[in-house]
Amino acid sequence: MSLLQVRDLKVHFPIKAGNLFTRQHGSVQAVDGVDLDVAAGTTFGLVGESGCGKSTLARAIMRLVEPTAGSVALDGQDLLGLSERRLRPMRRDFQMVFQDPMASLDPRQNVESLLTEPLRAHKIPGGPVEHARRIRELLEVVGLPATALERYPHEFSGGQRQRIGIARALVLSPKLIVADEPVSALDVSVQAQVINLLKELQERFSLTYLVIAHDLAVVRHISDTVAVMYLGSIIEQAPADQLYRSPTHPYTKALMGAVPVPDPAVEVGRNRILLQGDLPSPANPPAGCRFHTRCPWRQASRCAEERPALRTLTGGHQVACHYAEDIAAGRIQPSTTAAPRSTATVSQHEPAELLDSRRSPGGR
Ligand SMILES: Nc1ncnc2c1ncn2[C@@H]1O[C@H](COP(=O)(O)OP(=O)(O)OP(=O)(O)O)[C@@H](O)[C@H]1O
Ligand SMILES: [Mg+2]
Repeated sequence: MSLLQVRDLKVHFPIKAGNLFTRQHGSVQAVDGVDLDVAAGTTFGLVGESGCGKSTLARAIMRLVEPTAGSVALDGQDLLGLSERRLRPMRRDFQMVFQDPMASLDPRQNVESLLTEPLRAHKIPGGPVEHARRIRELLEVVGLPATALERYPHEFSGGQRQRIGIARALVLSPKLIVADEPVSALDVSVQAQVINLLKELQERFSLTYLVIAHDLAVVRHISDTVAVMYLGSIIEQAPADQLYRSPTHPYTKALMGAVPVPDPAVEVGRNRILLQGDLPSPANPPAGCRFHTRCPWRQASRCAEERPALRTLTGGHQVACHYAEDIAAGRIQPSTTAAPRSTATVSQHEPAELLDSRRSPGGR
């Protein structure tokens, strides 16, 4: 059984007109029907562009925002049905690592206090001596010196601060860690160190992760399974190797195409296709397939009318596209083929979101 099981989760934020007779005028469908399963000891990577609902999904799982519908179970225990009082002691089992540790760590507390506070709040047995031993051990585990205990968050670099954030998430020995963009505020050189640290900690403590990023490259090496989100729903999910080897949904192909290839010869020779239009508003998502307004493979009139379900193709590879097999086999062609990027494809008028038409763009 999965450690984390999410079913048909929806988070719709009401939009209200601001006058005396305030009424609801529709809703922002930030998360709209997400299923996911994270097996114990594994990492589930969730990617998608800004505004697609990743943080809202994470916050709904953590019960930091109340879902509109659906269910979330941790180790078989339903989390959404619990009162806040019943939920509080369970919170030690699921902890979060945030994008910006400066914002999530109280600047007035030193590291010792930041790490001891959760132990006291959850009345973890052992008292001050045992707590002190535990946090010293934890500091070493996340690669910080014991002298860090007396210091305050602003005295550390971004990477060190994220190590403190990770230590704070770990101090209660949680079953699940949800990391929302854990490295996107960090320099590229530090990102890999923090990702490697998460990986080491997982092996050492048999942790289970849900890792969120807008960049496919970030979750690639840490994830067992990767899911791609678009406008509130998962549109493709597969074992990580498979997703990077053969991205199948047109949107995933677009995201892969947006990952720059370090080799200029490859970059110039890439045959790209423009991803049409802007990301639609989650307050007014397109009917039918939510991606059809931007999809170069869209077919009249099914894509505009019928919302594709997430269905299994092979070996755990799930795709929400009516024409996934036809696209993969080249039986239907994209509508617009643009020149390589080195020419005028990326103009001031076009977003730099380009669709890579290579069959297997994952190889880098
Ligand atoms: N409290 C809220 N009230 C109303 N709308 C909200 C609220 N929180 C988020 N939204 C909207 O829900 C959508 C999803 O937002 P969310 O922050 O989950 O996206 P995201 O994928 O995490 O984006 P990013 O990559 O920028 O962090 C957005 O359109 C956002 O404006
Ligand atoms: Mg976010």
